[in-house]
Amino acid sequence: MKRTIDPRLEMLRAKQKAAQLGGGQSRIDKQHAKGKLTARERIEMFLDAGTFQELQPFSIVVDAKKSLPGDGVVTGYGEVDGRTVYVYAQDFTVSGGSVSLVHARKITQVQDLAMSNGAPIIGMLDSGGARIQEGILSLQGYGEIFKRNGMASGVVPQISVMLGPCAGGAAYSPALTDFIVMTEKTSMVFITGPSVVKSVTGEEVSHQQLGGAQVHYGASGVGHFVGRDEKESLAITRKLLSYLPSNNVESPPEIPTNDSSQRTAEVLNSLVPEDPRIPYDMCEVIQNIVDRDTFFEVQAGWARNVIVGLARLDGRSVGIVAQQPMVMAGVLDINASDKIARFVRFCDSFNVPLLTLVDSPGFLPGVAQEHNGIIRHGAKILYAYIEASVPKISIVTRKAYGGAYIVLSSKSIGADLHLAWPSAEIAVMGPEGAVNILNHRDLAKAEDPAALRAQLVQAYRDKYANPYRAAEYGIIDNVIEPAETRPILIAALRAIRNPSHEMPAKKHGNMPV
Ligand code: HXC
Repeated sequence: MKRTIDPRLEMLRAKQKAAQLGGGQSRIDKQHAKGKLTARERIEMFLDAGTFQELQPFSIVVDAKKSLPGDGVVTGYGEVDGRTVYVYAQDFTVSGGSVSLVHARKITQVQDLAMSNGAPIIGMLDSGGARIQEGILSLQGYGEIFKRNGMASGVVPQISVMLGPCAGGAAYSPALTDFIVMTEKTSMVFITGPSVVKSVTGEEVSHQQLGGAQVHYGASGVGHFVGRDEKESLAITRKLLSYLPSNNVESPPEIPTNDSSQRTAEVLNSLVPEDPRIPYDMCEVIQNIVDRDTFFEVQAGWARNVIVGLARLDGRSVGIVAQQPMVMAGVLDINASDKIARFVRFCDSFNVPLLTLVDSPGFLPGVAQEHNGIIRHGAKILYAYIEASVPKISIVTRKAYGGAYIVLSSKSIGADLHLAWPSAEIAVMGPEGAVNILNHRDLAKAEDPAALRAQLVQAYRDKYANPYRAAEYGIIDNVIEPAETRPILIAALRAIRNPSHEMPAKKHGNMPV
């Protein structure tokens, strides 16, 4: 007997097919021609195969003159490496992925589900921002998204993957999330598009000049990662998740390593040059300490005088904060302060222990820095470390002068363990500056001021610029052989798992911002 298909099933399939096509084949072709994938293709590529479950595929815009399937966004949940994540992907083929109230409420539904079920939210953005024709309704929708971005902050990880133009609200929602992944050539993030900029200022700018990957990865500090194409951006996002717990009450997943916990690294014993003016690469220090190939730098293109990133030690995630002696001698400036403070707060929110490697001459002096608020920005580092209740371990590899010593996770502000390499120089300021202040009379009278200065600098260095005075006072817990840093840190992280960093009860502090 010939079986007929139930017409209700036929209708379902027809509706599913229409929803799959979004804004239609010609717009999909246009999307592909720009080197971009469709919303559904992105989700398929991102999640573990076959795990995506869609929510509300049949929603349409409320007062549509034309039918907008899915209303410009595909939402749902699935898995990454077997762990649940909630996703939304904006569909540029439908009204430029612009946000209507229905579109917004599809996003807020996954935000709510993610928060109540303790799973990360991944947004794949490709949107012209608030849907102009909807007026206030689209603004209401954005407000509802922003509100949940704020509520979810510190509860579940939020990651925004930028995969096209992202204007207005499509820039501000990501700005409230933990990480922004840019995509070379195709992602452009700005508050208002070039046509609006031109109408207001007369200035002719391209999408890329306004907010391309180079701008946000290299200059503005808005982007944390950059992928060469969509595939790489999505792979970066999967990798990032591997270091993170699903929510703020879980620990990050442990990923077994075949890198021995007892491995020493002889190369570290000679990496720091004896001459303090000669730089070395702090990334090499990090790579020799952590589990092989696990160092994953964050914001590597911006404020390169400092380094922040995730890694694993004996399979457990750690957040690393360091300075880069090869860039501006690792000095702390405004951007570096923002970069460190935000990363420290992220790690603290999600139970990632902090390892701080210190080699910094201090805060950058100068009129520009003072006038732009280095005091206000630098204070963020202090605040973030003081507030952080995760295990905090720091190691001074070379310079830790003055402010840099204190703010970069010293014991005085709450480090659980503060170590130093023999090359550490811990003092109120660098030898040259100190000699100028302490010995200005002798230098003014000297027959050969240069020779006297050299002699005084050496005397200062011998007396103050070493780790032993700090170690004698117990301000440094131990001076260790650099080669043994990895096993020492692994043992420390086993011993210091849940330190008590009690703070007075309060609603919340008033972080300098
Ligand atoms: C409605 C929109 C739209 C929008 C794009 N489209 N943006 N429809 N509302 N905001 C539609 C276009 O009309 C077009 O429809 C289709 O999407 C593709 O857009 P194009 O302009 O053809 O594409 P492209 O040249 O790639 O340019 C993309 C763009 C540009 C850079 C996003 O469209 C643009 O500048 N849009 C406006 C950006 C903006 O200023 N948004 C801010 C909104 S204010 P058809 O039918 O022709 O295919 C906001 C408030 C939030 O978001 C508050 C924050 C605090």
